[in-house]
Amino acid sequence: MEYRGKTVVITGGGSGLGAAMADVFATNGAGLALLDIDGDRAEKKAAELQAKGTDAIAMTVDVADKGSVVTAAREVEAHFGSCDVVCPNVGVQQFGAIDKLTDNDWAWVHTVNVMGVINTVSAFLPLVRKSSGDSRHILLTASASCFTPGARMAAYVATKYAVVGYGEVLRMELAEEGINVSMIFPAGMTTRHLESSRAARPAALGESKLDREDVEVMMASSNISVDTHLASAEHAVRNLLSELRAKQPYIITHGSYRAQVEEQQRKVLDAFDRMLANP
Ligand SMILES: NC(=O)c1ccc[n+]([C@@H]2O[C@H](COP(=O)([O-])OP(=O)(O)OC[C@H]3O[C@@H](n4cnc5c(N)ncnc54)[C@H](O)[C@@H]3O)[C@@H](O)[C@H]2O)c1
Repeated sequence: MEYRGKTVVITGGGSGLGAAMADVFATNGAGLALLDIDGDRAEKKAAELQAKGTDAIAMTVDVADKGSVVTAAREVEAHFGSCDVVCPNVGVQQFGAIDKLTDNDWAWVHTVNVMGVINTVSAFLPLVRKSSGDSRHILLTASASCFTPGARMAAYVATKYAVVGYGEVLRMELAEEGINVSMIFPAGMTTRHLESSRAARPAALGESKLDREDVEVMMASSNISVDTHLASAEHAVRNLLSELRAKQPYIITHGSYRAQVEEQQRKVLDAFDRMLANP
C-alpha cells in the first residue's frame, strides 16, 4: 500500500493503458482522478474502483483544450488537495502515408499528443509541488514506435519523439525539486486505441480515416513480430511500480525489439567514430 494517502491523475484513464495504470495505483492505496474525453468510460472505471474502496473521481476532459485541463486540475485540488503522480497518457493514432496525411491530421495528432501532454503537466505541476515526498512522479506515455518506427505512422511517431524530447528536459528541470520523471514505451497493446482515437477526433477536423493497408504496411516495415509485440495493457503495467520505485527514466513494457535499439545506437556511435576519425 505504498501509495496510501497519495493522489494519482491519469489522462485517458477510462480505457486501456490508463485504466490498467489506475488499477495498479488503486491496488496500492492511491486515490485516483481519471480524466478522459470519453466521460462515460472514465465514470465507469471510477465507479469500478470506488466499489473496491478507492477514492476515485472522473472528469470529462479534452487534453488538447488547455482550459479543460486547468478546470480539471482545480477539481482535483478541491477534492484531494494536491497530487503526487501525474500520468499524461493520452495519445491518438492517425495512420497515413506522408503525402496522404492532411493538415488536419497533422494538427490533430500534434495538438493532442504533444500539447495534450504539455497542457497536463503545466496544469498539474503546481499540485505536485504542493505535495512532498519521494514518490512524486510525472509518468509520460511514449511508445515503442520511437525505437521501431513503421511506415504510414509519421504523424504519430513524430509526436512520440516530441514527448520523449519534452520528457528528457522535464526530468532535468524537476530533478532538483525531487520530482521524478519517467517515460513508458509500450509496444502494441490489445486496447481500443484505433477506435477511441477515431471517436475522439473533433468533427470539425473531418473523419479520421483508417485504411487497413496502412496497418499492414506499418507492420511489415517495422519488422516486429505480432506474437511478441502485442500484449494486454494489464501485462504492460506488471512491473510499473517497481520501475517507478527505482526511479527508472525509461520503462519498457514488452516486445522483442532490443536488437533494433542496439542497431540504432550502434549507427549513432559509428557516426561519432567517423567524425572523430576525420577531426
Ligand atoms: N495500443 C497500443 O498499441 C499502443 C502502443 C504504444 C503506445 N500507446 C499509447 O498508450 C496510450 C494509451 O493508449 P491505449 O492503447 O490505452 O488506448 P485506449 O483507446 O484504450 O485509451 C486511450 C484513452 O484516451 C482517451 N482520449 C483520446 N483522446 C483524448 C483527448 N483529446 N482528451 C482526453 N482523452 C482522450 C480515449 O477516450 C481513451 O479512453 C496512448 O498514448 C498511446 O499512444 C498505445
